[in-house]
Amino acid sequence: MADLPDSLRIETRQGLPPDLRYLVEKYPRDTWQGHANLGGMAQFWLQRHDMFRELGGLLQGSVTDYREGRLAPHDFAAWFAPRLRFFLQQLHGHHQIEDMHYFPVFAAAEERLKRGFDLLDADHHTIHDALERNAQTGSAFLQALGAARDTRLFAADAYADENTKLLSMLLRHLHDEEDLIIPLILDRTEEGLGVGG
Ligand SMILES: [Fe+2]
Ligand SMILES: [Fe+2]
Repeated sequence: MADLPDSLRIETRQGLPPDLRYLVEKYPRDTWQGHANLGGMAQFWLQRHDMFRELGGLLQGSVTDYREGRLAPHDFAAWFAPRLRFFLQQLHGHHQIEDMHYFPVFAAAEERLKRGFDLLDADHHTIHDALERNAQTGSAFLQALGAARDTRLFAADAYADENTKLLSMLLRHLHDEEDLIIPLILDRTEEGLGVGG
């Protein structure tokens, strides 16, 4: 999907394109919470997205705290390392379930949105590459905590840069994915789509 125009690439996209917005226009975001068709699967899935947003922000905040001297290297590493690992693993698993289980069901149910699911799938590939760079620069950063100042600062910059890029793509992806999927669930119900618990 390297040939996607800037308006569709996750790095530069501003939202779903107009032809994929007909359901979210019918079911706008502010009507989702409390809607009778927002079932257990959708609520759980939205909570997972919120967890990724929150944890991503906490990881980024902790790097800032370390870089600005508010967290000692050892304390920082003890807090950061297990949470980074958890974040990367959970996100990878989340995408796999979407790709294998949910996207095929949703795309088959609403042919006009299929292009949207191809787009989200392309996002997952781009995010996957960013996750690998995030893991590499994150572990280099942790290893450099005991090194000379320049090495430490360089590794912190490299990680912070990768993390900022990853989070910005992730936030875009989560938002557009919700705009595509939640209105479809509200329109058809989880039972109707065959994804209800
Ligand atoms: Fe996704
Ligand atoms: Fe997701």
